[in-house]
Amino acid sequence: SMIDTRSDLTIRLCGPRGFCAGVDRAIQIVVLALKAYGAPVYVRHEIVHNRYVVEGLEAKGAIFVEELHEIPEEHRQQPVVFSAHGVPKSVPEDAQARNLFYLDATCPLVSKVHKQAMRHQRLGRHVVLIGHAGHPEVIGTMGQLPEGSVSLVETVEDAETYMPPDEINLGYVTQTTLSVDDTAGVIKRLHERFPNLTAPAADSICYATTNRQEAVKQAAPGCDLFLIVGAPNSSNSKRLVEVALRAGATRSVLVQRASEIDWETIGDIRTVGLSAGASAPEVIVNEIIEAFRARYNAVVELADTVEENEHFLVNRELRAIELTPA
Ligand code: F3S
Repeated sequence: SMIDTRSDLTIRLCGPRGFCAGVDRAIQIVVLALKAYGAPVYVRHEIVHNRYVVEGLEAKGAIFVEELHEIPEEHRQQPVVFSAHGVPKSVPEDAQARNLFYLDATCPLVSKVHKQAMRHQRLGRHVVLIGHAGHPEVIGTMGQLPEGSVSLVETVEDAETYMPPDEINLGYVTQTTLSVDDTAGVIKRLHERFPNLTAPAADSICYATTNRQEAVKQAAPGCDLFLIVGAPNSSNSKRLVEVALRAGATRSVLVQRASEIDWETIGDIRTVGLSAGASAPEVIVNEIIEAFRARYNAVVELADTVEENEHFLVNRELRAIELTPA
């Protein structure tokens, strides 16, 4: 018989990983809308930041646009879905003005942050949003309030120099997918400078972000390589790469598909960490495990932290369809 010359490898597979309840719900909304109203169903912005998911929905009849004006006149009676990241208030207003039928797939935990920002404002506070400039969630949260009532703070350096219009009446919220540790540092610095700064009633960073970061943090020490399945525009996935490096992984890389793994540069490895961002499907995790199995004598070791039981209901209009067998 042939001698197996492949080297031994342990794949440390993190749990929880991959799809969160908000991503799962957003995808369901598009699938159910296609079932209920037929193709095409328009989707404003990538429903979740993942090419594989987007292409799968396109194959079923979804059409992705960046802005509502791209929806052709003859398809105005077809629904348009707003992505899980949330939208500024101007978007549903614009949809109404154009007589479009929209389904909002904003994650309920993002909507919760919107409400907290509005609450700060109602109570007379200027709002500090901690997040990454240009990310759709940040654009959506800022767009809940009139221009000028939200200031974006991205880093500890920003927190150092930020000048609020009124430092007595100040409240903050954050993006849901930030680094737990970095955000704590930004908030600490803001608190030192502005002792009156009011926290939101509930943490803005969501359970999925927190759990995925914690699992990676625990698995990272001793890993020669840590792969995170996720897209370059996925905020929560990029944070997992940073967490892996900071917690002791020698190297960490974001990959969208197994085909992106650069086997030439991998070198001599014994332990690989593996996790997936909240928008990354499990089939790709499996594809990557298989790719390692083809090259190494690999064993998968489960590195689970907590169990997640979150599930978010789809929009009321779609619930009846959800229960009807195909
Ligand atoms: Fe929602 Fe958090 Fe996922 S905000 S979409 S549950 S990453």
